[in-house]
Amino acid sequence: MKTIAIMNQKGGVAKTTTCINLAVQAALKGRTLVIDMDEQANLSRQFGVKEPETTIREALLGEKFSPVNVRENLDLIPSSTDLVGIESRLFNELSRERKLEKALKGLKKDYDFIFIDCPSNTSLVTVNALSCSDYVILPIKAEIFSIEGIDHMINFIRMVRDNINDKLSILGIVITQWDERLNVGKDVMDKIKEQKWDTALFQTRIRKNTAVSASQLHHQTIFEYDRKSNGAQDYTALGYEVLERINNHK
Ligand SMILES: Nc1ncnc2c1ncn2[C@@H]1O[C@H](COP(=O)(O)OP(=O)(O)O)[C@@H](O)[C@H]1O
Ligand SMILES: [Mg+2]
Repeated sequence: MKTIAIMNQKGGVAKTTTCINLAVQAALKGRTLVIDMDEQANLSRQFGVKEPETTIREALLGEKFSPVNVRENLDLIPSSTDLVGIESRLFNELSRERKLEKALKGLKKDYDFIFIDCPSNTSLVTVNALSCSDYVILPIKAEIFSIEGIDHMINFIRMVRDNINDKLSILGIVITQWDERLNVGKDVMDKIKEQKWDTALFQTRIRKNTAVSASQLHHQTIFEYDRKSNGAQDYTALGYEVLERINNHK
C-alpha cells in the first residue's frame, strides 16, 4: 500500500486535476482511495459528490466516517465547506498532526493506493496529509512565479519528514499547463536546472489542453471525456512514470 500526496501551496497549479487523473489510472491496477482535503471540495464536486453524509472533517475529528464509491475500484473521502475552521477545532488536541493517519489505520489494508489532494497552503491539514504519506508529488505550473515557491515547499516537506514522518520522500515534480509556444517554459526549465531540481522532474510534462478543463465541466475524468486528447495522453504517461518510480523505490 502506498500513499501519495499531491501538494503545492499555490492554487491553480493542477493539484486536483493531477490527483483525479492519477487516481483513476491507479484504480485500473488496484483498489484505490482518493482523499479530498481541500475545503473548496473541487475534487469531490468533480466526482459529483455534493452533500455527502460524512466527510474528511469527521475523519480528522476521530468520528465515524465512510468513503463513498465513485468509480470501479475507486473510493473517495469527500470534503466540503464543513472543513473550514478545522484548524481551531484541532488546535488543543494531542497529536493533532496525526489525525488523518489515525483515521486511516483501519482502512489502509483495503487499498493498494491512496491519493491525497491537498489544499493550496501549508496548514495543519496539509501537515496531516504529509504525515501519513509515503510520497509527495509537486505539480508546478510552467510560470516563473511557480518556481519561486519550490524552495519553500521542499523545506516544508523536509520539516515534516524530520519531525513527524521519516518515510516521506518527494516522488517528483511535474510541470503542468505546459505551453511550448511560450518562452517562459524555457526560463522555467533553465531555473529548474540551475537549482538542480531536474533530477526530481518527471519526464512527462502535462500540456495545456482545453479538453482537461472541459472534462471537469462535464464531471468526467480526462479519459472518459476524450481519451485521445493530449491531456489523456500526458496523464497516461505520467501515470506510468509514477508507478515506475514507486516500484523502483521499493
Ligand atoms: N493541462 C491543463 N490544461 C488546461 N487547463 C488545465 C490543465 N490542468 C489544469 N487546468 C485547469 O486549471 C485550473 C486549476 O486546476 P486545479 O487542478 O483545480 O488546480 P489546484 O488544485 O492546484 O488549485 C482548473 O480550472 C483546471 O481545469
Ligand atoms: Mg485543488
